[in-house]
Amino acid sequence: MVSTTGDSRHYWKIIVLAVFIIIISLSHYVTGTEHKYHGLHEIYRRLYYIPIILSAFWFGIKGGISCAIVVSFFYLPHVIYQWGGNFLTDDIPRTLEIVLYHIIGFVTGFLSQKQMDATKSLKKTIEERDESYDKLKQQAEVLVQAEEQLRRADRLSALGKLSAGIAHEVRNPLASIKGTAEILSDKFKPGDKEYEFVEILIKEVNRLDTVVAEFLDFAKPKPPELKSSKINEIILSVLKLTEHQIARSRIDLKTKLEDSLPSVYVDPEQMKQVFLNLIINAVQAMPDGGALEVGSHRNDSEIVCTFSDTGTGISKEEEENLFTPFYTSKSKGTGLGLAIVYRILESHKSKIKFSTKEDEGTIFTVCLPIETD
Ligand SMILES: Nc1ncnc2c1ncn2[C@@H]1O[C@H](COP(=O)(O)OP(=O)(O)O)[C@@H](O)[C@H]1O
Ligand SMILES: [Mg+2]
Repeated sequence: MVSTTGDSRHYWKIIVLAVFIIIISLSHYVTGTEHKYHGLHEIYRRLYYIPIILSAFWFGIKGGISCAIVVSFFYLPHVIYQWGGNFLTDDIPRTLEIVLYHIIGFVTGFLSQKQMDATKSLKKTIEERDESYDKLKQQAEVLVQAEEQLRRADRLSALGKLSAGIAHEVRNPLASIKGTAEILSDKFKPGDKEYEFVEILIKEVNRLDTVVAEFLDFAKPKPPELKSSKINEIILSVLKLTEHQIARSRIDLKTKLEDSLPSVYVDPEQMKQVFLNLIINAVQAMPDGGALEVGSHRNDSEIVCTFSDTGTGISKEEEENLFTPFYTSKSKGTGLGLAIVYRILESHKSKIKFSTKEDEGTIFTVCLPIETD
């Protein structure tokens, strides 16, 4: 018997066909024409159509014809010997049965083959449809992401222009207030009530000045002055700047900076600001101490810088607003730190990502393209 696929799961079908043919042949040979159940003898001969049709149905044309051949092989001796060799003249209908076996095998096989082919092509169409649906879904996701980025960029530029005007107006009088307060503080001795007031005045003016400076940084971004730079040097200079604050906050600092990283083409001052904002945020997220790990390594055509803290983490609702200007969860925050980071990295064609777990910590990852000539 022929299996069109040769697949092992077709074995049981072949066994069923073989059993059918053997049982029918035995019954057919046992009940001769002189037998008392002569009527049954006629029926057995026709029962051969069952395995032929089944085989055609399961294996197509090849199955139908092969089964017809096997059946004929079992049936032929009966025709030859039972009729003394004169099978052509003695009983033509019995002999023609063999031809009919083949015709039925072929026709049923042909029809079943057609149906199998149609099923196969339908299956392929369904697979192709599923594939294009997946592709479409992926593209839709990319589109949604692009739209979100566009919206953020829009918001940044509108707010940027507005705050630039305000910041400029505020900065000059602020410098005068600070100068006057410093002159005043000389007039009082530490311990005086007035001295304390003036100290508070100076502290608050300094805070305002920082806020305004951040506004200006954000609102009037300078185009980056790109130069070939060593990223580890920039990171280390920022860590030097913040080491007191880190130690005071009872934070363990660990650095994992990969040696001999290739240069990157960046504005070192702006990158310092990026790293400073990320480190300050990490420190502020660990008010009761913790661990801060700063790392750098190469990944294909990028240099990846990581800032990992064991702080408060970021909630789901917060995640969406993280880079939105003026979004802050801190009573004295400006909400501009990450907006500035985002803008600077955008002008460096670089990316920032983060992953976070509430109450466990956050990792910010900055990816900078490696300089290519
Ligand atoms: N490492 C961090 N861990 C937890 N929360 C963070 C971290 N970095 C940023 N955030 C959250 O993002 C907000 C926005 O940060 P940022 O733009 O720097 O503004 P600010 O620091 O003035 O609040 C913060 O108020 C804080 O809620
Ligand atoms: Mg900040």
